[in-house]
Amino acid sequence: MKKGIFITFEGADGCGKTTQIELIKKYLDENNIENVLTREPGGSDLGLELRKILLHYDKPVSNIAELFLYLADRAQHTEYTIKPLLDEKKVVLCDRYIDSTVAYQGYARKGDINKIIKLNDLVTNSLKPDLTIVFDIDSNVAQSRLKGEKDRLEKEGLEFHKALRQGYLELAKNNPERIKVINADDAIENIHKKCIELIKGFIN
Ligand code: TMP
Repeated sequence: MKKGIFITFEGADGCGKTTQIELIKKYLDENNIENVLTREPGGSDLGLELRKILLHYDKPVSNIAELFLYLADRAQHTEYTIKPLLDEKKVVLCDRYIDSTVAYQGYARKGDINKIIKLNDLVTNSLKPDLTIVFDIDSNVAQSRLKGEKDRLEKEGLEFHKALRQGYLELAKNNPERIKVINADDAIENIHKKCIELIKGFIN
């Protein structure tokens, strides 16, 4: 039985991802394509609790503890939210998924990339997105766009965010069929058009 379509969105904090996902959702709604928008961390009730800790816990968190908290959020989210929606043949739009952990806890935090990829497989039962869009942007520009109180990850310095960007580009190079990179330093409408071009190939 054909399942739904699973599309994930990735990029550094400040890349404009949230605006674009909302525009994509609007496009799907206007075209009567059943879809659900979800996110990580925080796409389940348990995940909402984990999100508070992950973004705002104000004492030191070890890199491995951080990694496993993101993975716990993903295990719960995949089993109770994403898989059931795909079984109902919905288009699932997910703001961050497996590639965030490889990019942030792997490339940026200098974790073991291969182990993280295996752990992602474990917690998702190897569920991969049909399409992943990475919004690529210069790290200085992304940082300058961040407004208000910064969360734990946003507070990391420029080196962290540069490594993160390289991580995403490396991931795209290694997974050219699934991951597509869009220049996020462009007008909102231009970026949106490019997203729709990519998504159309899956929803038609
Ligand atoms: P958000 O602000 O885009 O919702 O993402 C929350 C933060 O969590 C963001 O800084 C990226 C980070 N993150 C990781 O470090 N690893 C992960 O696996 C995920 C899903 C997010």
